[in-house]
Amino acid sequence: MSDVTSDDYPQEALATSAAVAEYFGPRLDAVSRFAEMLHDQGELRGLIGPREVPRIWERHILNSAAVTQFLPTTGTIADIGSGAGLPGIVIAIMRPEAQVILIEPMERRCAWLEEVVAELGLTNVEIKRGRAEEFHDAFECDAVTSRAVAGLDKLVRMSMPLVKSGGQMVVLKGKNVAQEIDPARKVLRKLRGREPEILEASTVPGVEITTVVRIVRQTGGR
Ligand SMILES: C[S@@+](CC[C@H](N)C(=O)[O-])C[C@H]1O[C@@H](n2cnc3c(N)ncnc32)[C@H](O)[C@@H]1O
Repeated sequence: MSDVTSDDYPQEALATSAAVAEYFGPRLDAVSRFAEMLHDQGELRGLIGPREVPRIWERHILNSAAVTQFLPTTGTIADIGSGAGLPGIVIAIMRPEAQVILIEPMERRCAWLEEVVAELGLTNVEIKRGRAEEFHDAFECDAVTSRAVAGLDKLVRMSMPLVKSGGQMVVLKGKNVAQEIDPARKVLRKLRGREPEILEASTVPGVEITTVVRIVRQTGGR
């Protein structure tokens, strides 16, 4: 098995590496097709910036996949502000027995997500067009995730009302997330969020570790 060790090798090498094949297992074909779609259309359709095209696997696919280890295998998972489908599409591929709800307000991004779902033949995805706040009294999920949507205090306001009692928010964040926790404490108390845990998630050797914040919603009350 060839390990992925350099941080500047071409993404083709990463995409076809034994480490990536082993990590995704039977889900590799679907993930690869999604990466290919992002590569071919992502910049053109305003979903990712031009600098991201050469690093779709490392910065986007694997970064998104990293959150999956903290998510349930069944039940309902929502991705707020799914945009290009990150991390929601990757989660739906890796968690085929969970129902994945992609929440995205922009029409053209929802159209993209519909195309991806059709192309990959995903049967466990529902796309809801709108802002997360619009769904606060509509449904609750076992887990709510997001990436690059807002600061933690705002994200707690958007996400926690969509989390079932005893469920969790699992947010992809940068390394400096610790400084976002104090400003979020007031809203966390109000919305029954437990103490945030900062977790590190690795995927394949040589690829940057992803920082994830997990916040469990206390049981009881509303
Ligand atoms: C910077 S993009 C990130 C997209 C994707 N999560 C990613 O990591 O590539 C932020 C996304 O959040 C969406 N968004 C902004 N405010 C939102 C809200 N209140 N509820 C749901 N989505 C929102 C935007 O439309 C946009 O697609």
